Amino acid sequence: MTTIDKEYRILPLHKRPDLIPDCCALLNSEWPRSETARLKFLNISCDEFPTCLVLIDKNDRVLGHCKISLISRLRHSCFIQSVIIDYQCRSQGLGSRLLRGAEGYVSKKGIKNVYLITKGQEVFYLKNGYKICDPFKASGINDVVYSNAAFTKAKLKEKSMQCSCGPPPPPMPNFQMPKFYDLGVITHRTHMVKKLS
Ligand SMILES: CC(C)(COP(=O)(O)OP(=O)(O)OC[C@H]1O[C@@H](n2cnc3c(N)ncnc32)[C@H](O)[C@@H]1OP(=O)(O)O)[C@@H](O)C(=O)NCCC(=O)NCCS
Repeated sequence: MTTIDKEYRILPLHKRPDLIPDCCALLNSEWPRSETARLKFLNISCDEFPTCLVLIDKNDRVLGHCKISLISRLRHSCFIQSVIIDYQCRSQGLGSRLLRGAEGYVSKKGIKNVYLITKGQEVFYLKNGYKICDPFKASGINDVVYSNAAFTKAKLKEKSMQCSCGPPPPPMPNFQMPKFYDLGVITHRTHMVKKLS
């Protein structure tokens, strides 16, 4: 499909089902899941979205993956997830190549906005032209729902009212909140968007 150069290619996974096991292994190296669940996630790839794209080298080694789904309630928009580059091949520009390939792929299909959610890779996406946006809700494959700040506020209010049934339990003796920042754990998810030109 897309030839980046002589070294690397990006193509839809469903055009090369023989690569599914390697892609499964790549994803599971970062986010372990059962093989059944992973195969279900990958086998759904098709031309009409959701589409899994893989980045392969000249020896057909799977080095990268991303999955693109349509956002049903937003015209000309898609959601990109499970962006990954093989651990040994990171910091060589391949992640950026994969994003550019994915953007080119969706652009040809009339997509104008690419949305994503990240927890910790903000700098990578900022360097690739993504901007932080209002939160939106990604609820299931091909059914990503956008929300604006007002929607989020209303949802938070709803949640706090649901939780206000009685006083909170007393703290445990000698209980201390874990210091997530000490452990380098990022707890919030950042919503980002890139408008394709
Ligand atoms: C995020 C990921 C795809 C980036 O791939 P990559 O091939 O290493 O990225 P690139 O080499 O193209 O990096 C592009 C730029 O982003 C920067 N960058 C990449 N990851 C970064 C990070 N975690 N923090 C800060 N900067 C980062 C690079 O330094 C580079 O900057 P430069 O152009 O100034 O040199 C890869 O690290 C990965 O697979 N991570 C694990 C899975 C994951 O977290 N995916 C994201 C899910 S939202």
